[in-house]
Amino acid sequence: MRQNVALVACLAVLSGVADAFWRLPCRGRSGVARMDPLIAPGKPSDHVHAVHGSGGFAMSATEASLKKGSCTSCAVTQDKSAYWAPALYFMHENGDAELVNEVGGMLAYYFLNGENITAFPEDFRMIAGDPFLRNFPWPVPDPPKSEWSGDQVSQPALQQKALGFNCLNYEIDPEPSLGRHFMPNKTFMDEHCTDGIRFELMFPSCWNGRDVDSSDHRSHVTYPSLVMDGDCPEGFDNRLVSLFFETIWDTYAFKDKQGEFVLANGDPTGYGYHGDFIYGWESGYLQSAVDQCTNLSGRVEDCPIFDLQSEDDQGKCTFPVPDELKNENVFNHKGGLPNNIAIQYGPAYASPVKYTTPGHPAATQPPPKPPKPAFTLGASFNLGSLSSATRTPTPTTSLVPDVITEEVVYLDQEILVYVDDKGTPLETVTGSVETISTSTSTLTTMASAVVTTPTIAPMKRDRHSHFHGRRRHRSGHTH
Ligand SMILES: *[C@@H]1O[C@H](CO)[C@@H](O)[C@H](O)[C@H]1NC(C)=O
Ligand SMILES: *[C@@H]1O[C@H](CO)[C@@H](O)[C@H](O)[C@H]1NC(C)=O
Ligand SMILES: *[C@@H]1O[C@H](CO)[C@@H](O)[C@H](O)[C@H]1NC(C)=O
Repeated sequence: MRQNVALVACLAVLSGVADAFWRLPCRGRSGVARMDPLIAPGKPSDHVHAVHGSGGFAMSATEASLKKGSCTSCAVTQDKSAYWAPALYFMHENGDAELVNEVGGMLAYYFLNGENITAFPEDFRMIAGDPFLRNFPWPVPDPPKSEWSGDQVSQPALQQKALGFNCLNYEIDPEPSLGRHFMPNKTFMDEHCTDGIRFELMFPSCWNGRDVDSSDHRSHVTYPSLVMDGDCPEGFDNRLVSLFFETIWDTYAFKDKQGEFVLANGDPTGYGYHGDFIYGWESGYLQSAVDQCTNLSGRVEDCPIFDLQSEDDQGKCTFPVPDELKNENVFNHKGGLPNNIAIQYGPAYASPVKYTTPGHPAATQPPPKPPKPAFTLGASFNLGSLSSATRTPTPTTSLVPDVITEEVVYLDQEILVYVDDKGTPLETVTGSVETISTSTSTLTTMASAVVTTPTIAPMKRDRHSHFHGRRRHRSGHTH
């Protein structure tokens, strides 16, 4: 066990500092409505979204109209982007749908993972996730990332691993981000998730360098081989800033009620969670932020170029709901989800629009093609956790700000770390072990990756830090 800790510290020393990022709080919610300017421009969308960002959000919103919005529900006033994802409902026993409360709005992380990162280009938009998925045909839980290869690193697999449902209980060690790719059932949540559930969504960050959008709003971007890190596939070698959504829902408020949780798109599994983004930063600003906001704290306060507004002001920014949706009660909807979207349990790919009552308009968009399942394993999940001594949990932020103090035991041991030409560790070789000192380190968990930034290691360590670049083939890594 001690050996492992030392090894992690050693790797961190070798690989230098962690990647920078900033965490953009969007404490206000600009609205909840059946609106989706990407999928259903100019008309009501099928399902309800929780929307954050520009007050210029509308059924026909574009980058230009978002930028004209008079406010944003996020902290940085230079950002008028729109961020939206399906809302979460509690379906009561009698069939009525009640909107679950969001805790602390939404957090939009901007991770600077990879090399030569650029901001989103003007007019950029994209969707992550697939609203019709109801199945997970990949191994559960995820195998270690070093073992991902073949189908494991296919885009359909990476897309599903980009979703996370984090069961929150601030009394115990946090679960890893993106550790569970389905929504736990209510029995499980009632028992374990006393602080609610956090939805997590990683967007693709490899871009074809050409198209700011595509007909499905997806095919101009892809995931890197480890979802948020790794190599970009051929043809998508432009690394964009990595966008990651986090939203906490107060599911525990329904502890004593009979019913189930369902996403607004009729998904009780979570596999159909998705999110949408339309870029709306002030021209040139995001690139300056990518270049300058490199403080590892992740706090927007530590980036000198951001103009910040108070949480109160974030909370005041809302968009006008169009007349045709004004009378729709999206908070408490009688007899089913808003728009009477049917709940589809899967595992089959959901039909595009299936209403619980007849007389609704037919679907106007053909559904995207379902991915080919390679193999199916039963859904089981082991709670992962990080060993930690102390941490300071806050109700509305994620794992990232939780600073964990941990004792690191430095061992006198030769550790050879073989890396490929991208710096990805391939193999380690260890000699005999002898404790030489202990020290305290600060461990920060970032979405899906544990990054250890140890205090200065004892001098003696240095002579054992070998860094061997060695080319070596292993499937799943490109050279
Ligand atoms: C980043 O840019 C530098 C300089 O243009 C180039 O040498 C390097 O190969 C690039 N790295 C990647 C991963 O594209
Ligand atoms: C709820 O989920 C847990 C953990 O995945 C599982 O053991 C249990 O059987 C599920 N309960 C129901 C009612 O589906
Ligand atoms: C990062 O921000 C902290 C405050 O959170 C500040 O003390 C520190 O000097 C900053 N580091 C850099 C490199 O700017």
